[in-house]
Order: sequence, then C-alpha cells, then structure tokens
Amino acid sequence: MIITIIQGGPRAQSQTATVATYLAAQLCANPDVSKVEFLDIREYNFPVYGAGSPGKDRLEDFRTALQHADGILIVSPEYNGRMPGALKNTLDYFRPEYTKKPMGVVTVSSGPFGGINALHDLHAWMMYVGSVPLSSKLLVSNVGNLFNEDGEPQEYHFNKNYPKYLSDFMWLVRKIRS
Ligand SMILES: Cc1cc2nc3c(=O)[nH]c(=O)nc-3n(C[C@H](O)[C@H](O)[C@H](O)COP(=O)(O)O)c2cc1C
Repeated sequence: MIITIIQGGPRAQSQTATVATYLAAQLCANPDVSKVEFLDIREYNFPVYGAGSPGKDRLEDFRTALQHADGILIVSPEYNGRMPGALKNTLDYFRPEYTKKPMGVVTVSSGPFGGINALHDLHAWMMYVGSVPLSSKLLVSNVGNLFNEDGEPQEYHFNKNYPKYLSDFMWLVRKIRS
C-alpha cells in the first residue's frame, strides 16, 4: 500500500511537522506499506488560490502523490478552532483526487484539547470532497511536551493511542482498496 501524508503545519518551527515525521516513520515500518510519500505544505508553499501560479511541476508532483495514494493521512494543527488557512489553501488546488480515497486525520495542539475543533473541521471537509473518512481519532495534546531530546514520544496517552490509530487507518485502507 502507498500512503501519502500531508503535513499541514505552516510555521517554520511547526510541531505538527515533528508529529507527522514520527508517524511517517511508524508507517514506513508497517509491512503492509510499500511507500510513504510525505507532502509538507511548507515545501510546496502554494500561493493563495487564484492569486498566483504554484508552477506546473510542483502542482503535478502533489497531484501525483494524491492520485497514487491508497490512503491519505492529514496531520494538522488547530489554528483558531479550524485547520490552518494555509492547509485549506493547499487542499483547494485539488478535488477529484480525494474522491473515494480512504483518509485519516491527526490533529495537534499545544493545549489540552488535541485540536478537536480542527478534527471536526477536517471531517466535514473530508465528507464534502467525497473521501472515505476514518472515524477513529488521534488527538495530540500538549505537543510541546511530547518528544524527549532524542525525538522519542514520552507521553503515555500518545504512546498508547497512536499504534491503535495507525492500525485502524491501515484497516480502512485495506478494506477500501481490496
Ligand atoms: C495562528 C495560530 C492559531 C492557533 N490556534 C489554536 C487553537 O485554536 N487551538 C489550539 O489548541 N491551539 C492553537 N494554536 C497553537 C497550536 O496548537 C500550536 O502552535 C501547536 O504547536 C501546533 O501547531 P504548530 O504545528 O504550528 O506547532 C494556534 C497557533 C497559531 C500559530
């Protein structure tokens, strides 16, 4: 299975990117996963839709990674109760690529609620674009304290919850793609 991860944190020091990188490594180690494509919205840096051109090659790179994916995992921070505008802007460049695609969302917050509002926002978006959303949740709270200095997660709930979440995600991907 090919899994495409969209890293949706726009800040240079994004902690969401650290979580997304960690989850990408875990998926790479899954025997059912042949390839993980990592799309970091900071690297693509698409201009505000309609206000400029992202460049044909960059757009096609992103599109190909969405089209080839058996499943898409979005890792997003919560900004003012929603997904960041920069993530939505990136997602708006595409539409048929999402249809009938198994999709999961992991949300990240520096606070105690794990980005639950961004999760609801992304769930509504996933339904709208006709994807097949995973109903399981992985809410990452207090992300500032999650990783130790070796880059290993040290928080009890995250370490307990992420293997189950990834297992549920892979279950959905296998079901839909079989
Ligand atoms: C513009 C902005 C808005 C934010 N709004 C929220 C919010 O609504 N809820 C929340 O839990 N955290 C919010 N945060 C804090 C993020 O949870 C925090 O930055 C966290 O590290 C994840 O985002 P990151 O990938 O930018 O690091 C916000 C941060 C920024 C920069």
